[in-house]
Amino acid sequence: MLIFKVENICKHFGGVKVLENMSLAVKKGEVVGIMGPNGAGKTTLLNIISGQERADSGEIFLNGERITNLEAHIIAQKGIRRSFQTTSNFPDETIYENIRAAIINGKHMSKQEEQETVNKILERVAMLHIANRRVSEVPISYSKLVELCRCLVAKPALILLDELYAGLTLEESKMVTELITERKKMEGVSFLLIEHRTEILLDVVNRIVVLNQGKNYFEGLPAEVLANKEVSKLYWGE
Ligand SMILES: Nc1ncnc2c1ncn2[C@@H]1O[C@H](COP(=O)(O)OP(=O)(O)OP(=O)(O)O)[C@@H](O)[C@H]1O
Ligand SMILES: [Mg+2]
Repeated sequence: MLIFKVENICKHFGGVKVLENMSLAVKKGEVVGIMGPNGAGKTTLLNIISGQERADSGEIFLNGERITNLEAHIIAQKGIRRSFQTTSNFPDETIYENIRAAIINGKHMSKQEEQETVNKILERVAMLHIANRRVSEVPISYSKLVELCRCLVAKPALILLDELYAGLTLEESKMVTELITERKKMEGVSFLLIEHRTEILLDVVNRIVVLNQGKNYFEGLPAEVLANKEVSKLYWGE
């Protein structure tokens, strides 16, 4: 079942066309990878979906409802959460508080339920022992995991991840892949994730959309895309 659709999105900054009729669709419980060279427009696409930027034209639908160019907090309420390429946590707050605040934005829970929810996810990412540390005091990889936890506890329909894996250790990457796979299977959460590394894409995504100069360039199953000569030429010039 299709839950999310981007249709013919165009965006320019000054005279530069950054997205040109970009389209994609995501099914319930599907993990879609977005690849493309530096400056291809990947982050801009996520920014438009989540309401950080406005599209010049084109439409975006979540569960059949048009959400194009709504304000970011409304889009979040409607069920889309995201992580940023450079993280967006509250650095002076604790890890615990950062995650708790993400629940508050979405749902009403008792204090005890909140505590259980935060502790459960922190345990899942092996960070319960540092729950009371400030985000500014921990390495960037922990900060990225906090962002993922904040997305997950809000229980959205779709999560957008902008190079979440960059800067994670091998072990942390494996854990993130397990967590994404678990949530898609158990809760039907859909993901749209920007990632360059093929070994990660092969492990975690169901389908890949390749962007080049703001346009759809290629799309298919991971193995298909990664074996494609045009795609390798785009990335490695070979
Ligand atoms: N706010 C802005 N104002 C002007 N130009 C912008 C703005 N945001 C992005 N751009 C330009 O749009 C193009 C696409 O940028 P974007 O960040 O979407 O690329 P990307 O595919 O995410 O690249 P990367 O892999 O380096 O993260 C780039 O040329 C960038 O300089
Ligand atoms: Mg980017």
